[in-house]
Amino acid sequence: MADVRKKPVGVFDSGLGGLTAVRELRRILPHEDIVYFGDTGRVPYGTRGRDTIIRYAKQDIAFLLEKDVKFIIAACGTVSSTLPHEYSDALAVPYTGVVASTAAAAVEATRTGHIGVIGTPATVMSRSYERAIRALRRDTTITAAGCPLFVPLVENGYFDRGNEVTHLVARDYLTPLRDAGVDTLILGCTHYPLIAPIIGDVMGPDVALIDPGRETAKYAKRALASSGLLNPDGGRAEYYVSDDVESFHRLSEWFLGEYTGGDVKRISVDEYEV
Ligand code: DGL
Repeated sequence: MADVRKKPVGVFDSGLGGLTAVRELRRILPHEDIVYFGDTGRVPYGTRGRDTIIRYAKQDIAFLLEKDVKFIIAACGTVSSTLPHEYSDALAVPYTGVVASTAAAAVEATRTGHIGVIGTPATVMSRSYERAIRALRRDTTITAAGCPLFVPLVENGYFDRGNEVTHLVARDYLTPLRDAGVDTLILGCTHYPLIAPIIGDVMGPDVALIDPGRETAKYAKRALASSGLLNPDGGRAEYYVSDDVESFHRLSEWFLGEYTGGDVKRISVDEYEV
């Protein structure tokens, strides 16, 4: 029988933001094989309606299941906040989104109990982070804000610290959170760690920024270890996108840092029946 431990971990996102989770996975789980799918042809998800997001997520998952993965990570705040638990719980392989582990890290980090959440409009409207935080600690104050322009800015490469456009947008979105006095800020979308230095400049040095990719990678490591699924000798990564591979080549090194490399192919995700 095939050794399940040697199957890849499947990771998906609406675009390239989920690569921030892949970078963390490769750092802390260097022996895992990873199959990544970025739905670059249909990004963004976060400004779409719930039915569309759920259909897209189901197609993304169908693709990863076809790749015979042993574990699925929705490295997308929007999908994690929208896909019903009844669906993900019934999948043939274990699945995690980013919300639970990121909320737990924020509860751990806050000193004052005032936590900020930023994400796509769909994530903020779902109140997924509020529910996850309050389930862990009732006496918290939560201030949330949708930041719809951050994803297109990041997907178009507007993320270096000196970028004045992104600074301007960040000041507009984040000043109310800063003035409200949050001491911890959940970057509730996997694209946002790329602009964490800009977000940090606006929020100030005393606000802890919580990275969903990092927290979810740590959770995945614990989950794989506790179910005896850690791969003893893998380490390859392959990437799939639903639009031109050129943008992946152009931008992926920013997301992956030193872990860049691996084949990139284009697929047609629309064809998956769900
Ligand atoms: N990375 C996705 C998220 O975490 C991107 C958002 C989008 O597609 O709108 O929500």
